[in-house]
Amino acid sequence: MNIIITPNQSPVSDSVREEMVAAGGFGKFYTDNMVIANWSEADGWGDAVLQPYGPLTLDPATAVFHYGQEIFEGMKAYSQPDGGISLFRPEANAARFGRSAARLALPEMPIEFFVQSVEELVKQDRNWVPKNFGESLYLRPFMIATEVGLGVRPSNKAMYLLIATPASAYFDPSKAVTVWISTEYVRAAEGGTGEAKCGGNYAASLIAQKQAALQGCDQVVWLDAKERFWVEEMGGMNLYFVKGSGADATIVTPKLTGTLLPGITRDSILTVAADLGYKVEEVMISIDDWRDGVASGEITEIFACGTAAVVSPIGAAKSAHGTWTTGDGNPGPITAQIRETLLGIQHGTIEDKHGWNKRVC
Ligand code: PLP
Ligand code: COI
Repeated sequence: MNIIITPNQSPVSDSVREEMVAAGGFGKFYTDNMVIANWSEADGWGDAVLQPYGPLTLDPATAVFHYGQEIFEGMKAYSQPDGGISLFRPEANAARFGRSAARLALPEMPIEFFVQSVEELVKQDRNWVPKNFGESLYLRPFMIATEVGLGVRPSNKAMYLLIATPASAYFDPSKAVTVWISTEYVRAAEGGTGEAKCGGNYAASLIAQKQAALQGCDQVVWLDAKERFWVEEMGGMNLYFVKGSGADATIVTPKLTGTLLPGITRDSILTVAADLGYKVEEVMISIDDWRDGVASGEITEIFACGTAAVVSPIGAAKSAHGTWTTGDGNPGPITAQIRETLLGIQHGTIEDKHGWNKRVC
């Protein structure tokens, strides 16, 4: 597969772009270009085209609109101290995209091609990558089923797209995230799509997100579908619990059971925390463990992690079983240390011992 480069000949002006980049937030503005590639069962993948960002024209009977056959990824490009730009573990996103595609009966895309498409867009739109530490260019690769027809079957056509948006904090960094632990709705059950990054998982989560907001909470926390007892993850992030404090602290995260999204940030923190000298465990964590650990003081910090959110402290957890508050709303010392270390590696100010950064330009 090749990438044909036909970039936007009328990019936004430097001053407008700089304003958009400085505006921060998440997903407010999109860069000058995007990448599109089409697949058909008959011909496989065609060449990708890097072209001006713009709307799509699709037949109203296109499969994705009706049966939600869609997957996506989320990854970031980070400015480096010498003015260059790096991606963080792009092959891991490519591999997860492949697994999501397989689960949603969409075509798998060669890993090299996925990574190349991301590199080309970042190179083309490099001026959109924010320079500040903790800010980045968020990349959203996604794939939709494009066969036209209302029969319920795996689509024989698909479209891959890649768009990019400058990103700063997903959550207001000055306050801890509050969570509503849902016992009414579940995100994923065994045999379902919990491990895949597909739009349908998020569509099905929105009612619980609404419920969380009605309870005055920022996010929903999911429990397992069977017992509604085991903590799985948060809206669009994985969870970590810090037990104890100082050098003797243990950092635990819910074990991957097949219903959680295997986050790349989660996976990286397993290594970063161990490198920092902490004991790290992947275990089953129940809501009782959460409540009792907070009450006894054993749990000293809780944080959420993900590409968009990076590392964000969690304060109050509310549920049908009561409210338990951890910390004072500010990131605890270990949460802050892990956040700074991970961002340092991503921005090239801390040694990348594990070869995670991929230099783009
Ligand atoms: N869990 C869910 C449901 C997510 O949507 C995300 C975000 O991608 C994550 C966890 C964190 O994954 P990652 O660290 O790969 O961004
Ligand atoms: C990400 O962190 O990349 C996510 O996908 C989370 C959310 C914005 C859906």
